[in-house]
Amino acid sequence: MGKSSKDKRDAYYRLAKEQGWRARSAFKLLQLDEEFDLFADVTRVVDLCAAPGSWSQVLSRVLIKGEKFGRAAWQNREAKFRQQMLGVFGPVKEAPEEHVVEVDASGDALEPRKDVKIVSIDLQPISPLPGIITLRADITHPATVPLLLHALDPDYDATSKDQKAAHPVDLVISDGAPDVTGLHDLDIYVQSQLLFAALNLALCVLKSGGKFVAKIFRGKNVDVLYAQLKLFFEEVHVAKPRSSRASSVEAFIVCLNFQPPNGFSASLEEPLGVGYRLTDMMEERRVALPIRAPTILQNPQTGAWDGCPESPRSTDVDGVMEVEFEDLRAPEKDDVRWIAPFIACGDLSAFDSDASYRLPPGHVSLDPVQPPTAPPYKRALELRKLAGGAYGKTGSKS
Ligand SMILES: C[S@@+](CC[C@H](N)C(=O)[O-])C[C@H]1O[C@@H](n2cnc3c(N)ncnc32)[C@H](O)[C@@H]1O
Repeated sequence: MGKSSKDKRDAYYRLAKEQGWRARSAFKLLQLDEEFDLFADVTRVVDLCAAPGSWSQVLSRVLIKGEKFGRAAWQNREAKFRQQMLGVFGPVKEAPEEHVVEVDASGDALEPRKDVKIVSIDLQPISPLPGIITLRADITHPATVPLLLHALDPDYDATSKDQKAAHPVDLVISDGAPDVTGLHDLDIYVQSQLLFAALNLALCVLKSGGKFVAKIFRGKNVDVLYAQLKLFFEEVHVAKPRSSRASSVEAFIVCLNFQPPNGFSASLEEPLGVGYRLTDMMEERRVALPIRAPTILQNPQTGAWDGCPESPRSTDVDGVMEVEFEDLRAPEKDDVRWIAPFIACGDLSAFDSDASYRLPPGHVSLDPVQPPTAPPYKRALELRKLAGGAYGKTGSKS
């Protein structure tokens, strides 16, 4: 597919290049933020599976440079306009000559912040980004934990057994995806392993009240995963940004308000997703759930008790009717399966990622901002080229 044709068929691919993002994924994070206000009160962030780095760019531009996008930018402009209309604004202050004020695309002055810490990790190298620490590591490998803890806090003693961040982070995001094989069940399984790896790292570094956002592939048993995440976070949502193709199984889990169970300590010696630790925790949760009484109503016409196999025993004490039911029950095993709310996010007027759009007149197709420097498919392309193209050499020897 030519560049122009890809520009036409994928509005987000074109926009990403025009707006200087390294990948179209930037819009997914921006649309998730628009729905969940992910960046509110956030100064310390870990970006997992971050190459080529468009999510890290979003973090750098929003948290460090102070740029605003989407609804936040619109609200900012509206507030400014209102203030101007009310005449609250005094005469426009001239900036001192030696002090250059950086402005964003809409001309608003930026307020860069120095107290922000962002660490980004990927198997692939990530080209440098302003204000971001980048690590080349495998998030599924236990040795990555001390690496990350050291990047977050240079005083961290990498030989110590302690796998908890001294200064934990507010937000962990993971856009991790394996190289898909097209075998759905296998792809979903490998994706879920990446998700557990991201979760294990998040549990080591998140502060209480922190947030965790990660890519998932929605497979058959995804509701079990939601229930597992619900062990650690007060809120768990599944979100599908407009920029994520409706035709793909991709979605994002957005987990808010990290509240680990009492006594829980994260350890990569005993990671979640391997063995029975999570299963045991789910069972503990099930047993701890309150005993539930079924809702039983008395039919005013017949006097019968609906939903009750036998009439309940009742006693009238001082005019108060007390009802006892034999049918009190503990929750069933399946009660811990829990359906997370599904939210489509991104403005409805935003581009539909499955639609083709006419290109604006005079459109010039741009090169990608930052192609992957060492993608795993690079070697395969080289070998294919050596073999004479997609189908090998076609010349006949006879
Ligand atoms: C969809 S891309 C991420 C795009 C990125 N969020 C951005 O905005 O540019 C998925 C990334 O996951 C990375 N990845 C896959 N498995 C990984 C692993 N085990 N450890 C670290 N990164 C991994 C890949 O190298 C790839 O760069």
